[in-house]
Amino acid sequence: MNEYDTEKMLEVLRLENYALTESQAEADLIILNTCSIREKAENKVYSELGRLRKLKSANPNLKIGVGGCVAQQEGEAIIRRATNVDFVFGTDNLFELPKMLNKVQKGEKIIITKRHARQKVRNFIPDYTFQQTQRFGVKAHLAITKGCNNHCSFCVVPTTRGVEVSREPENIITEARRLISAGTREICLLGQNVNSYKANGVDFVELLQRLDKLENLKRLRFISPHPKDFHAELSDAFVNLPSLCEQMHLPLQSGSDRILRRMRRWYTMETFYEKVGLLRDRLPEATISTDLIVGFPGETEEEFEMTMEAVRKIRFDLIYSFKYSARPGTRAAEYPEHLTEDEKSRRHKILLETQEKIVLEKNLALVGSTQEVLIEGKHHRKNNTTTGRTRGYHPVAVKNSKTKAGDLLMVRITGALPNSLEADAISTSPVIN
Ligand code: 5AD
Ligand code: SF4
Repeated sequence: MNEYDTEKMLEVLRLENYALTESQAEADLIILNTCSIREKAENKVYSELGRLRKLKSANPNLKIGVGGCVAQQEGEAIIRRATNVDFVFGTDNLFELPKMLNKVQKGEKIIITKRHARQKVRNFIPDYTFQQTQRFGVKAHLAITKGCNNHCSFCVVPTTRGVEVSREPENIITEARRLISAGTREICLLGQNVNSYKANGVDFVELLQRLDKLENLKRLRFISPHPKDFHAELSDAFVNLPSLCEQMHLPLQSGSDRILRRMRRWYTMETFYEKVGLLRDRLPEATISTDLIVGFPGETEEEFEMTMEAVRKIRFDLIYSFKYSARPGTRAAEYPEHLTEDEKSRRHKILLETQEKIVLEKNLALVGSTQEVLIEGKHHRKNNTTTGRTRGYHPVAVKNSKTKAGDLLMVRITGALPNSLEADAISTSPVIN
């Protein structure tokens, strides 16, 4: 979501005649778009602001802004702690950048973290005629909801991003069309609880159906659905909609029912297995990824073992795993029995090692298979090689292919590495362009 917001900031700034520079030393404006999901991310903001102090003394014209979730939560406190910051803006306020910069250029310090009215959010990005920017690529993100009503006990997002609001379908389709005409071939829909989307009588499945019909959109994905809102109709969409890739991210968080209750996740392992079955019964080749938290307050060794059992049984294709991090203002931060950092690290290491083996085994099983790859660009180290992803989201290096970004290619998998695949192009010309 932050990457998406950053792209939007770049578009707004481009219309204000700012150009992107690769070097911080050259910049007249630096914006940190911040994340507060875990403490480590938040700490990074202050260390980065410390580093930027030198640049500001070298270039007195340099303006520094802080946006995103840390800005939303901390507001004025950021300017008090890091006096070199000129402006702070919240998660609803990025389209007010021109107004803010106007004042900042006159030497004012600005803090805007006001939430917008629901109706404005439903039509977000209304006033700009976006043009193609350097950042629009073959793959693009598209936010369809913002905020979250779930209040999982560990999570700060409902505080930083506010209540859930679904964007109007027409507004979404307009943005999708614009992306496609700028060369995007794969769109990943974004939302904190993406599958609870509903606006103007259109639900998530219907939105997928509408997007699937768009000409030249080759691939559609979405993150992150909540297991409680994953149902048979959505799993049917994976079969029925040609552009919807056979890949799903379904965050489990923990394999213990007691911990899931304490996390306020409102599903059990039994129902989670049912949801996985809904997809795998229809599409056995579908890839499934997940998020897991280890060391949640009060997690016993047995409960951690239940997570490990789920990992071994489900055999996820990709896991994003995190050590629990207490976030201010969340319920879990107040729970007793916090685990030590050492214990969380020990459990995390066990999880990573097991998962690494599973992924390598699954990658090896793909050797010899034929896959469709969407080429994203040249390999950054290997000559005469391009990279892309399969429909299942595996990164692939394609040897000796004369292809370019945006080509869809059929390949044969020739090798498997722990985190990627190698392949030869079957057809030298792209299947579809
Ligand atoms: N500590 C650790 N991980 C967290 N996540 C969210 N909040 C926390 C936290 N306080 C993880 C969850 C979520 C992902 C985006 O980040 O697994 O799904
Ligand atoms: Fe956070 Fe996701 Fe839970 Fe919402 S559904 S509170 S964003 S973990």
